[in-house]
Amino acid sequence: MADESTKASGGGILGHLPPLPRAALNNSVIGMEQAYRQRKGLPLLTDADIAALKAGEPMPWEAGGSGVIEAPAVSPTAQPVSAAPVSQAPPATTAAPPVAARTGISDEVAKLVAEGRKWSRSTVAAEQARRGRKGLTPFNDEEITALLGEPYTSTPAAAPTPAAAAATPTSPSSAGPAVRPAAPVQAAASAAASVSRTGEATRYVGTPAVGTSKAAAAGGVATVGPENSEVNQQRRRLVWCAVSAFLMAWFLAFFRFFLPRTLFEPATSFKIGYPADYGLGVDTKWQQKFRIWVDRTPDRLFVIYARCTHLGCTPDWKPSENKFKCPCHGSGYDSEGINFEGPAPRPMDRAHVEFAPDGQILVDVSKLYQWPKGQPSQFNEDGSFLPA
Ligand code: FES
Repeated sequence: MADESTKASGGGILGHLPPLPRAALNNSVIGMEQAYRQRKGLPLLTDADIAALKAGEPMPWEAGGSGVIEAPAVSPTAQPVSAAPVSQAPPATTAAPPVAARTGISDEVAKLVAEGRKWSRSTVAAEQARRGRKGLTPFNDEEITALLGEPYTSTPAAAPTPAAAAATPTSPSSAGPAVRPAAPVQAAASAAASVSRTGEATRYVGTPAVGTSKAAAAGGVATVGPENSEVNQQRRRLVWCAVSAFLMAWFLAFFRFFLPRTLFEPATSFKIGYPADYGLGVDTKWQQKFRIWVDRTPDRLFVIYARCTHLGCTPDWKPSENKFKCPCHGSGYDSEGINFEGPAPRPMDRAHVEFAPDGQILVDVSKLYQWPKGQPSQFNEDGSFLPA
């Protein structure tokens, strides 16, 4: 079964239009027909077709059609057999000005061009769509190229050739139906704009959305992508590298979320050698590694935990002064860690010490002996020192 959209008669596409004899159609029906043809990719109705449909007359390419753009009030039989082609029809007998046939640059466009402002293709397309909505005359090819600042070259399809004109019959008495010329994009856009501006009800029918590729095509502006030059390729590579780096950074941050956040602290129990390794006085060789000083007196050996009892700074051993001096607030301790000056409230703590099975000194800083202010001292308890 033949699809209705492909119904053809006399070289033209009938589409969803009713066959002859046909009553006069209103703008709404014509607008829906144009939209249908756009969806199906069929040739759009020309100005001559629309004028004939409004007048209830056969379209130029249909049997009984005139083959020319005529005013609906004028009978096709009134036209001479050798009537001029569409673009040369006398203005006095034309019902509506054929927008697509308008050539040259209007005063308005000439003024815009004289202002020196460079128009982009998207701007032109948006202006074309706006003009279609407002019912204004759309730009023709010459005006578009002038606005774009490009040299104008007329397309052969825009003007009918003498041969085509001669082959186009203008009267029902001609031998055959008219051969419908190919509708260029500008003519299709003009037809759609013509339909859209003829009534409020069909104002937006068949007009593509502003800023879309369809709007650009309807405005006679081809959608041209960026040139595939070496510079553009490098720019694309740069953009892709930036995007990849960004995504990789996010992935690493996401992966890090699953790793534990732990602090690896040094062991609190360790060996520091044999008692014979230490002479009388203070030995600071373990200060950096274990934060302790080994202090040996004539009768005992003990380990001072190197932390100021004021606010926790690490005091310095001053051998010339035979004392510890805290750099933070000036607390002073004697060679056994007993405070005697500054804000320190008590002597420095001492770590637990004992002999390991191998005879070395085993220190455990997790167990400290203190001498709190006004309380008994723990410095004489077992484990707070080793006998010398
Ligand atoms: S922290 Fe040592 S004196 Fe304040």
